[in-house]
Amino acid sequence: MKKVLVAGASGYLGRYVVREFTERGYSVRALVRNPEKLAKEGPNLEPPVADVVDEVVTGDATDKASLKDVCKDVDIVFSCMGLTKPQRDVTSEQIDHLGNKTLLEDALSHDVKKFIYVSVFNAEKMMDVDVVQAHERFVQDLQASGMSSTVIRPTGFFSDMGMFFSMARSGHMFMLGDGTNHVNPIHGADLAKVCVDAAEGSEREICVGGPDIYTFNETVTMAFEVLGKNPWITHIPMWIGDATLFITGFLNKPLASVMSFAVSVSRIDNVAPTTGTKHLRDFYHELAAKKGHR
Ligand SMILES: NC(=O)c1ccc[n+]([C@@H]2O[C@H](COP(=O)([O-])OP(=O)(O)OC[C@H]3O[C@@H](n4cnc5c(N)ncnc54)[C@H](OP(=O)(O)O)[C@@H]3O)[C@@H](O)[C@H]2O)c1
Repeated sequence: MKKVLVAGASGYLGRYVVREFTERGYSVRALVRNPEKLAKEGPNLEPPVADVVDEVVTGDATDKASLKDVCKDVDIVFSCMGLTKPQRDVTSEQIDHLGNKTLLEDALSHDVKKFIYVSVFNAEKMMDVDVVQAHERFVQDLQASGMSSTVIRPTGFFSDMGMFFSMARSGHMFMLGDGTNHVNPIHGADLAKVCVDAAEGSEREICVGGPDIYTFNETVTMAFEVLGKNPWITHIPMWIGDATLFITGFLNKPLASVMSFAVSVSRIDNVAPTTGTKHLRDFYHELAAKKGHR
C-alpha cells in the first residue's frame, strides 16, 4: 500500500484530499498543527477525517525542526499547507515558500517519489501579491529540485464562496469592483479528485476550476436567493479597495497581505478548465440547512 503525507490536512482542501486518498486505498499520514481539528467538521462543511487517517504527525511550517522526518517511509507528499488567514507575525513567505521548502528537503532526504503542490490559477497575473509570490518561489524550488512533481493551479474554492454566503446571511454584501468578472469556483471534493489523479499521472502542471462559470455578481445574488432574501450588494470601487489596502499595509501587515489576494482576484477573470460535478447552488443550500452556520 502506498503511503502519502498530506500537509495542510486540517484545512478545507486538505480534508477532502485525505478522504480521496484513503478511498483509493492509500495509507495517509496527516501533518497538522492541531490534531483535534481533524475530528470536527470544518466551517464550510469539510468533513472530519480523524477516523480515516492512518497516522497523525504534528508540525509547524515556521518551526523547521518540527518537520524533520515527517516524510520518512512516505511515497508521495501532497501539500496544500498555506497561509490563507492573517496570522500574527507570520508571513506567506514563511509558510507557503519556506515551510514547503523544508518539507521538500525532508522529502528529498527520504527518497519520496513524487511531490504534489497546490498553488493558484492565474499566478502570472498576480505576481505583485505576497502570497502568490511565495507560492511561485516554492514552485520554482520544487521544479528545480529534480523531484517528480505536479503543481495544481485551482481557481477559488467553494470555501471562499462560503464567506460570501455568510455576508448574504447578514443581509448586506460589500463587493469589490463591479462584479462582472467571471470565475468557476470548485468544490473541495471535486478538486481532491484532480489532486489524487495527479499522484497517479505525469502532468507537470494542472489548471482547474469547477463545472459552472459565473460572474461574481451571480455567485452573490445566488446566495441571497437561496436564503430567500432580496440581494443588497454595495459595490466598492477598485480605487477604494486599493487605498484601503495601502493604509492597512501600515496598520496590519498580515491582514493586508491576505487582502491583497482578494483585491487582485477582483480585477480579473478566473476561469480555468472546467471539471467536477458539484454546483455552487447546492453548496449554498447545504450551508443554509446547517443550523448555526455563521
Ligand atoms: N481557498 C481558495 O480559494 C484557494 C484558491 C487557490 C489556491 N488556494 C491555495 O490552496 C491551499 C489550501 O487552501 P485552503 O483554502 O484549503 O486553506 P485552509 O483551509 O486555510 O488550509 C490551510 C492548511 O494549511 C495549514 N497551515 C497554515 N499555517 C500553517 C503552519 N504555520 N504550519 C503548518 N500548517 C499550517 C492549516 O493548518 P490549521 O488548520 O492549523 O490552520 C491548514 O491545514 C493554500 O495554499 C491556498 O493558497 C486556495
